Amino acid sequence: MRMSSDSLNALRPVSNSAPRKTRTAVLISGRGSNMLAIVEAAKAEDYPADICLVVSNKETAAGLDAAEAQGITAVCVDHTAFESRTEFEDVLDAVLREHNIEFVVCAGFMRVLSASFVKGWAGRLINIHPSLLPKYKGLHTHKRALKAGDTQHGCTVHWVNEGVDDGEIIAQAIVPIHTGDTPDDLATRVLEQELGLYPKTLAQVLNEKPTK
Ligand code: GRF
Repeated sequence: MRMSSDSLNALRPVSNSAPRKTRTAVLISGRGSNMLAIVEAAKAEDYPADICLVVSNKETAAGLDAAEAQGITAVCVDHTAFESRTEFEDVLDAVLREHNIEFVVCAGFMRVLSASFVKGWAGRLINIHPSLLPKYKGLHTHKRALKAGDTQHGCTVHWVNEGVDDGEIIAQAIVPIHTGDTPDDLATRVLEQELGLYPKTLAQVLNEKPTK
């Protein structure tokens, strides 16, 4: 029996179609290990993000080549080429919109984003920070935790607001601090947690509130 293409279409189960993935960009400044962990997780058919774009503010960021090697469009928007933060962010925003990006993940992105950029991406912009926020906003978190004599440290995924490492906390992972730890020892232990926490939390956020 021959079937027309119409009859074949009618036989196709509609429920088998893969769920729509959210078009997601990752902003980086360096090696991009968090970005790669998310890219790896996003290869699963049921992962809710499609990593369509990686943007670095630094041309030398190793993460740009790593993203390209994964077949992901990688773009540098060099902040030093602009006279002001606003001009840099206008171009960054335009690149994100040109690629129809719906959600933005900062992963080792070392630029402070202004209130107006943050407002434009409200509810669609998250960051990971290597401390148990609200402790140790800003830089050198591992060194500061050791200096304070803390027994625990960790990382936090949070919504980005106009403050630095200040937005609502979404998820945290805790690691112990051992006697004799150096900042590098601690950074390694925390990063191991980041690489698990960030992909898991991004999935959770997109599954719960795709457009918060
Ligand atoms: C991570 O520890 C991240 O939390 C911090 O910078 C580091 C970036 O690492 N903000 P990578 O670029 O993801 O490898």
